Amino acid sequence: MKTVLIAGASSGIGFEAAKLFLKNGWRVLAGARNQTRMQPLAELGAEIFPLDVCDAQSCKDAAARCDRIDVLVNCAGYGQYGPIECVKEEDAKRQMDTNVFGIVRMVQEVAPIMRKQGSGRIINITSCGGMATTYLGGWYHMSKYAAESLCDALRMELKPFGIRVIAIEPGLVKTGWEAITADHLERAGEGTVYEADCKTVAAVYRAAASWDAVTKPETAAKKIYCAATAAHPKARYLFGFGGRALVAARRLLSAGIYDAVMRKMFGLKVTKKLSGTA
Ligand SMILES: NC(=O)c1ccc[n+]([C@@H]2O[C@H](COP(=O)([O-])OP(=O)(O)OC[C@H]3O[C@@H](n4cnc5c(N)ncnc54)[C@H](OP(=O)(O)O)[C@@H]3O)[C@@H](O)[C@H]2O)c1
Repeated sequence: MKTVLIAGASSGIGFEAAKLFLKNGWRVLAGARNQTRMQPLAELGAEIFPLDVCDAQSCKDAAARCDRIDVLVNCAGYGQYGPIECVKEEDAKRQMDTNVFGIVRMVQEVAPIMRKQGSGRIINITSCGGMATTYLGGWYHMSKYAAESLCDALRMELKPFGIRVIAIEPGLVKTGWEAITADHLERAGEGTVYEADCKTVAAVYRAAASWDAVTKPETAAKKIYCAATAAHPKARYLFGFGGRALVAARRLLSAGIYDAVMRKMFGLKVTKKLSGTA
């Protein structure tokens, strides 16, 4: 029986991926901080356990649960949105710690096991936002750009040992992500010159949770499963609501037009000149 270890399995993409691997007869080790939300996975046969990817010992304990790991899926992450200058330094560092160093910590524990096996796949959920930046999401995008580069570096380093590294790059997916992102955005903007824009953009993310066109987490789970099982997996899977369009816009448009499109996308006036001393 093949084994998959999923970091960040209590919600959204990781949760659906765990269900899909279980359905296909895999041994699933599912880790996250919130154990209650993983109970349904335990009932389906997953081995659930507490995992905080910001804690090196917690990552070590996770990898020690099995002597064979065929696939590691790094799903743990969130969106620390907010204007660059308004996000507290500790919150910005937490974003990098989770979205970037969280992957690194898991890889440091799992790669030696896979090296011993002479095989394995590491699937990192990055984002289309690792190739294009949207309005007021700077710290999140920096973390995802870093995660993209991390995937490239790991892919080159681990290939000689029979370990494949794959980036999953979703557009907008209906998960817990939108509400968490909107909360951060509103909090960071409060009492600043960016407050009105933060509220407007946050409202769009909250509304997106009910748009039919937004990609379902089950679709993202299928991409992960494909990356885990395809004879010749791609290095990166870019898919989902707005993903390809965003990346193409970043590549093809001038910076000025791209910036205007970003504001327009959230219903903000393009020519607005902000003023204020706060
Ligand atoms: N939804 C989107 O539109 C979208 C688009 C592109 C990329 N992504 C990326 O996809 C990944 C999964 O997000 P999602 O959309 O599925 O959001 P989600 O529903 O909020 O799930 C995030 C998962 O990450 C876990 N997590 C967060 N911090 C953690 C930590 N320190 N240690 C362990 N687990 C942690 C959460 O579990 P606990 O809170 O229980 O620990 C939860 O299981 C993230 O990296 C996200 O940036 C999402």
